[in-house]
Amino acid sequence: MRRMVLKGNVAFTPTKEKFETHENSYIIVENGKIVDICKDLENSYKDYPLKDFSDKIIIPGFVDLHLHAPQYPNRGLGLDKELIPWLETYTFPEEGKYNDLDYSKKIYSRLINELWRVGTTRAVVFSSIHKESTKLLLDMFIESGLGAYIGKVNMDRNTAEYLMENTRTSIVDTEEILKEYMNKSSLVKPIITPRFAPTCSEELLENLGNLAVDYKIPVQSHLSENRSEVTWVKELFPESKNYASVYNYFNLFGQTKTIMAHCIYNTDEEIELMAQNGVYAAHCPYSNYNLSSGIMPVRKFLNKGVSVGLASDISGGNSLRIPNIIAGTIQASKMTWLNTGEELAPLTFSEGFFLGTKGGGSFFGKVGSFEKGYDFDALIIDDSTLSDIDELTIEERLQRFIYIGDDRHIMERYVQGVKIEEP
Ligand code: GUN
Ligand code: FE
Repeated sequence: MRRMVLKGNVAFTPTKEKFETHENSYIIVENGKIVDICKDLENSYKDYPLKDFSDKIIIPGFVDLHLHAPQYPNRGLGLDKELIPWLETYTFPEEGKYNDLDYSKKIYSRLINELWRVGTTRAVVFSSIHKESTKLLLDMFIESGLGAYIGKVNMDRNTAEYLMENTRTSIVDTEEILKEYMNKSSLVKPIITPRFAPTCSEELLENLGNLAVDYKIPVQSHLSENRSEVTWVKELFPESKNYASVYNYFNLFGQTKTIMAHCIYNTDEEIELMAQNGVYAAHCPYSNYNLSSGIMPVRKFLNKGVSVGLASDISGGNSLRIPNIIAGTIQASKMTWLNTGEELAPLTFSEGFFLGTKGGGSFFGKVGSFEKGYDFDALIIDDSTLSDIDELTIEERLQRFIYIGDDRHIMERYVQGVKIEEP
């Protein structure tokens, strides 16, 4: 049995309403899972290897529920357009480069290194349409020790000619990846990834839904991010009641576990369908600002019982740092509060932290919290250079790290109890 004890100030959010903190306590980890948190070390744990992080804060690793690996070189660039022209002008040309495996390897190694650096221990990732470079990305994540779902993008219409897949090839390539990777690693798995309804024919959507159900594979896509996009989907699928129904009709909306990114312009009926089908919403506040998309009313989704996680959405988003995105989420919710005549309450710090850890982590299983039985995915935070006042509570120190800290304050990262070295 692998066993370990870590000593430090422990903080996590079992529920979004409040933090659970344990000052100067011991976390007991067996086979990568949390078995106990205690103030005094019981005799039965005394011979476990002890890592002493006294004064430091131990928190769950961050979870990024939606990002585009091949858009990594574009981050911070090309942010002067809305979604559709942004895709055509900046995004598709960059994604077209990933039939080159050397280029893919160079970019993907930088991406994985930065994810490690900023404390993201699990991520849900779009690659490009390219089969071989998607496999490379899967293998590189496996090698890194970080957890991930990774999907080859499917699109067979309304895209650049160099990214237009033949429908049959798109399906066959996807199935090949599913078969090869579904049991290869317990931490890194494939996910079915229709880019979004406008770039997928009905035949493609139908076949992807069948693959999801037949192989029991999760699904990710985009939903209601931009006003022109929503109008376009109405034109392309006139029979469909709304955007969400397009995915639902094709078994791509919670028939297996599903993430939809953005969700800014959903109707109440769509939000209720998400709640009913257990579909996750990935909130991408910086991407939504950069592409002038809008503000997702996160509170409304939480009130209706939808699972929500946070996401960088690189390169619509400019930052991979989930702490930035937690702050951005809380800030966005304050604008929603103003814009709804103070109807939808702003998110609290504990709610923001929850969304960036357990909210997204639950997509992976028992991840993102330190309750008993949870995977020990953790960060050791050394905030000594941030503290100019003594006597802050653990929660206040953590809030300061989230708002003004960075990767220099992360000492160590763990996934399922294994310390992850710099990839
Ligand atoms: N909708 C379809 N493709 C994309 C993408 O690459 N980024 C974002 N933000 N939205 C999309
Ligand atoms: Fe996206």
